[in-house]
Amino acid sequence: MTQPKIQIQNVSYAYDGVVALRDILLDVPAHAVSVFFGPAGGGKTTLLRLINRLNDLVEGTQRSGRILLDGDDIYAPDVDVASLRRRVGMVFALPLPLPGTVRENVLYGLKLAGVRDRARLEEALSRSLGQAALWDEVKDRLDDPASALSGGQQQRLCIARSLALEPEVLLLDEPTSGLDPISTGKVEESLLQLKRDYTIVIVPHSIQQAARVADYASFFLMGELIEHRPRKEIFGTPRDQRTEDYVTGRFG
Ligand SMILES: Nc1ncnc2c1ncn2[C@@H]1O[C@H](COP(=O)(O)OP(=O)(O)OP(=O)(O)O)[C@@H](O)[C@H]1O
Ligand SMILES: [Mg+2]
Repeated sequence: MTQPKIQIQNVSYAYDGVVALRDILLDVPAHAVSVFFGPAGGGKTTLLRLINRLNDLVEGTQRSGRILLDGDDIYAPDVDVASLRRRVGMVFALPLPLPGTVRENVLYGLKLAGVRDRARLEEALSRSLGQAALWDEVKDRLDDPASALSGGQQQRLCIARSLALEPEVLLLDEPTSGLDPISTGKVEESLLQLKRDYTIVIVPHSIQQAARVADYASFFLMGELIEHRPRKEIFGTPRDQRTEDYVTGRFG
């Protein structure tokens, strides 16, 4: 059996004594879309942030357990956090384009990393915009300010910005929460393409979205992982009553 891309091994986490995650045990397979879903406050964002160490600077937190990337502990003392974040990209709910043009936004990380080769930058630009399903819409607007794009285009621009760095894992936290159904559809389509090359973890903005995009889905409730299974099983024949109540809309 191939090794999972990410292994979450008995992870517990608390903010100043308030428990956000309780003993989470979960394997995230490579080249698939894994979905973390469930009601507000369940710990989904916290777990995503732990996977690329975004919570390192939050004070007064307690963490136990291990998170492995390709078998290696990402919290080991010798891990370089900047290179971890190159391998594990993250996209947030609200698109936050940088000041500057479409082109500058996509190439920001590569330029920061010292890449100067024009051909390589142009290749990264068209590849990542293509992967984010945005190329056709912006190929004639590469030197326009990013702020002139629509919300849906800005969100895909942020996805492209992450992809330009060729991460191995892409974490997306409710990436379509502010988008109309057409833009949402485009982002979802691009995810299905991306999983061929990347490992994708997404917190969806709705159960319907979870059911559309997931290969594997994990149901989180108040810091606990209630059920983690392939899509058809968790949405078709949930094992736990709490999962069933949630996916059938009887929750609460
Ligand atoms: N920076 C923080 N400081 C203190 N408590 C926090 C912080 N971030 C999250 N929490 C708490 O941790 C718990 C889990 O929150 P988290 O944001 O991970 O949930 P979530 O599943 O992403 O929820 P939502 O669906 O609303 O985004 C909640 O009780 C929340 O109040
Ligand atoms: Mg959240």
